[in-house]
Amino acid sequence: MTLLFHSASDDARAWTAELNRRLPDLEVRVTPDIGDPADITCALVWKPPPGLLAGLPNLRLILSLGAGVEPLLEDPTLPDVPLVRMVAAGLAEDMAGYVTMEVLRWQRHADAYAAQQRAGQWRQLPHRPAAEVRVGLLGLGELGAAAARALVALGFPVAGWSRTPRTLPGVTALHGPDGLATLLAGSDMLVCLLPLTPETRDILNRNTFAALPRGAVVINAGRGGHLVEEDLLAALESGHIAGASLDVFREEPLPAAHPLFGHPLVHLTPHVAGVTHPGPCADHVADTIRRHRAGDPLPNLVDRRRGY
Ligand code: NAP
Ligand code: GLV
Repeated sequence: MTLLFHSASDDARAWTAELNRRLPDLEVRVTPDIGDPADITCALVWKPPPGLLAGLPNLRLILSLGAGVEPLLEDPTLPDVPLVRMVAAGLAEDMAGYVTMEVLRWQRHADAYAAQQRAGQWRQLPHRPAAEVRVGLLGLGELGAAAARALVALGFPVAGWSRTPRTLPGVTALHGPDGLATLLAGSDMLVCLLPLTPETRDILNRNTFAALPRGAVVINAGRGGHLVEEDLLAALESGHIAGASLDVFREEPLPAAHPLFGHPLVHLTPHVAGVTHPGPCADHVADTIRRHRAGDPLPNLVDRRRGY
């Protein structure tokens, strides 16, 4: 079996080694050295150029290096073969860690203390206990659930919003438009972990911010397309939103001159909240390839109609 690997941001050599450790007979070819396209039956990719996969006549399986697959679904030539997204322990742990870090950053005044230290100041700032800081999670899937479990363990009251009804121990689970209104009204911190679909695009907008309590914090680790950046800047300016942690942006890399970059109330990271580490994530890929070879049902298939 021959697998094509394409990613501008993942380590091809590390992935090849991890995959061959688990599947010694798998031949891995890394773009641009494709060889004969007819040899390739499987592709492991992140943001392939549109048309790359359509040029593989014997492709039978597409594995996404990312949990979010909208870059693939945007390619109108994407071959109609099973598309499996990334669901792996290392990624979920990373995301739970990122969300916890950002919630604690705002609850515990981490940036204010860093500034005070640089200024040689010793000043204690009051903070609310975890039990009084309500966290609302948009998206209660693999990553939302992992973040919810971590926050519940720290004593934060957590509510989560999904498209269909979900249950999760210790979490107030809401869904649908009424569920969203309830979640927003009761969220001191709002975390977006949704996939980017036509329904969720621009969901972090002025109406959403207005529905949050004054002084709420917004954390976006879903996709840049969820956030209407000018609406966030206006809500920060008015003081209705007290701060934001942003990991994803409409344009990546974010241009250095962008107003979010130097904003004093914005904490910014370069799309690193949940990383696809080759070690733990190769287990998921190898398992999917084994199942595919055996003709077994595949887990984590993308529903193209649903968009995630
Ligand atoms: P997932 O398991 O598919 O979960 C998606 C969740 O969003 C589900 O709870 C789903 O509802 C909900 N949802 C989808 N459309 C909705 C809608 N219209 N209304 C309400 N809820 C909706 O996905 P995941 O693995 O948790 O990943 C989520 C996203 O995180 C990815 O798509 C990607 O965009 C982002 N991500 C970011 C990074 C990063 O580094 N920043 C890393 C990885 C992933 P149901 O439960 O009803 O299906
Ligand atoms: C990263 O953003 C992913 O979708 O895995």
